[in-house]
Amino acid sequence: MKKVKRKTSAKKEVAVEKRIKTGIPGLDEVMAGGFENNSVNLVSGGAGTGKSIFAMQFIVNGIKEFNEPGVFVTFEEEKEKIQKHMLKMGWDLKKLEAEKKLVVIQYTPEQVKKMMDEGGGEVELEISKIKAKRVVIDSLTAFSLLFKEGLARREALLDLFKIIGRWGCTALLVGEHESDVERHQSRDVEFEVDGIILLYYLRKGDTRNRALEILKLRGSKHSTRIFPMKITDNGIKIYPDEAVF
Ligand SMILES: Nc1ncnc2c1ncn2[C@@H]1O[C@H](COP(=O)(O)OP(=O)(O)OP(=O)(O)O)[C@@H](O)[C@H]1O
Ligand SMILES: [Mg+2]
Repeated sequence: MKKVKRKTSAKKEVAVEKRIKTGIPGLDEVMAGGFENNSVNLVSGGAGTGKSIFAMQFIVNGIKEFNEPGVFVTFEEEKEKIQKHMLKMGWDLKKLEAEKKLVVIQYTPEQVKKMMDEGGGEVELEISKIKAKRVVIDSLTAFSLLFKEGLARREALLDLFKIIGRWGCTALLVGEHESDVERHQSRDVEFEVDGIILLYYLRKGDTRNRALEILKLRGSKHSTRIFPMKITDNGIKIYPDEAVF
């Protein structure tokens, strides 16, 4: 009798979930390999905690290390200023744009409204043009301020999430929060996103220390520690084996 080859459990394919690596030194290893593919995530912190640098590093690493083009939408800083500041980190945004791997879009509040009304508009167009896999919106605070009333704000956020969901990208939204670890309170948006990274600039005596916390990462086993972080001339670095204080 002919032997029928059975698929044994040893042969069973283990689905390896694709993670979207931040490429930020020290970080992916403590966040189960990176963000979930096609997820919507938030990086939040007080003023000057490094949110924009973090977000741009996510985009630039995507391009340079993982061949994933990216779109960076800024509602706050001028494009020229971003280019100038990021060049100090060694990231030549103009060059990446010329190579059609990056698009930086600077939006005024009016243009944001237009984008929402058009259900994605220019952003969606640019994403498909360069086949972007990563998208950043810096920041949600500027976006939310367009909507005075709480309910309208929440509805606009949900609309934005719906639009982002159609882009087929892994999204990183920049938010703001109280920089005191103890006083952190979840806002509406935090319940909607798949992942949350908090950046801190903690005072101890006469100095401040930067720190990073993975507050949430849906469906992933991630570290619960708060890690020391540094901003260097090459961008952000996390020190998973060291303590903040
Ligand atoms: N080369 C560098 N080395 C060390 N620290 C730097 C360097 N460049 C910038 N920084 C730090 O990064 C901070 C700015 O980072 P970033 O613009 O990402 O902050 P942010 O959280 O986006 O701020 P904002 O709330 O104003 O948008 C500066 O205030 C400075 O402390
Ligand atoms: Mg910023």
